[in-house]
Amino acid sequence: MKTRVLKTNKQNLPEVASAAGALLRKGEVVAIPTETVYGLAAQIFDEDAVHRIFTVKGRPQDNPLIVHISDLKMMDGLVQSVPECACELIQHFWPGPLTIIFKKTEKVSDVVTCGLDSVAIRFPEHPVARAIIDATGIPLAAPSANLSGKPSPTTADHCVHDLNGLIPLIIDGGECRVGVESTVISVTGEVPMILRPGIISLEEIRRWVPEAEISSAVFRDVKADEKVESPGLKHRHYSPGCEVILIDSDSRNYIEYLEKNAREGDVAMCFSEENERIAIPHVSYGKASSTEEQAHNIFAVLRDLDSREVKRILIHAPGHIGKALAVSNRLIRAAGFHVVEIK
Ligand code: TXA
Ligand code: MG
Repeated sequence: MKTRVLKTNKQNLPEVASAAGALLRKGEVVAIPTETVYGLAAQIFDEDAVHRIFTVKGRPQDNPLIVHISDLKMMDGLVQSVPECACELIQHFWPGPLTIIFKKTEKVSDVVTCGLDSVAIRFPEHPVARAIIDATGIPLAAPSANLSGKPSPTTADHCVHDLNGLIPLIIDGGECRVGVESTVISVTGEVPMILRPGIISLEEIRRWVPEAEISSAVFRDVKADEKVESPGLKHRHYSPGCEVILIDSDSRNYIEYLEKNAREGDVAMCFSEENERIAIPHVSYGKASSTEEQAHNIFAVLRDLDSREVKRILIHAPGHIGKALAVSNRLIRAAGFHVVEIK
């Protein structure tokens, strides 16, 4: 199959969105930009199209998809009820990088939810994503548009790299602003529970929903046969082909660790303030003080290193508090939980 790449700008957005919408309505899958990462979209009422998302990505059949809407009315009939805490979340964070999990109705196919009785809904803020959902007129199921296990795509080039020849259309809306996937919170249980950290942090959510908690599964290596609320946590994620080690220490100890342990073929993935002091090949992923910058860059840097002859990536670990948890959660999974802690 030939994959077309269409670049969008303010002027051509209506045409581009309607071309994408026409393909999506026909049951094709299309890669689209969002403010977090690129998504691989199909309309939710066409089971074959949704099924094709899993085939194209090589996605495990037990990892459910997020349903994307461009208008609150699109949620009508898909969810059983909207609890009070969800109203707060919707009011303060939608449209934006927050996914909310509700109890689902029969209208949502098991192919989307992998047989779960809940459905994840997201109202993206990206104008191109919204224009495409509007043009389709149907909510879109969309996981990140990478091959399963690989770092999520934050540019159209990343999508081309993974999906060229597998899908008919990639919409190029430039670099994604946020760079890590949405925060996922479930409102189906007694306590609103964050299942995946993102740039909207627990602390921000607690301003409006003080009882919110974060699932313990977020912090550990979930086994393949384990039953967890968020199936996504148990799959291999964000991994470049080579070995990745996370070094959790201050700057001095990180640099000392590199001096003592680095071998031929190693690359350091450090903070920009450390560039001058590192003697081995290195690439920075943002300022130590800017979680936003780190989040924006991590997947592009991991992909860049993956494309070179790198044997090991030695990453200076970010913080774990607030928004930084979104970055550390991705990096710890990229490292397969291989962390060296230096106190
Ligand atoms: O920012 C994002 O969320 C991006 C863009 C494209 O919107 N999408 C994304 O989708 O990251 P994906 O498929 O890569 O991650 C979806 C996550 C997975 O961890 C999945 O297990 C979880 O959401 N999820 C989806 N539906 C769920 C459900 N009903 N219950 C629990 N977890 C669910
Ligand atoms: Mg993903």
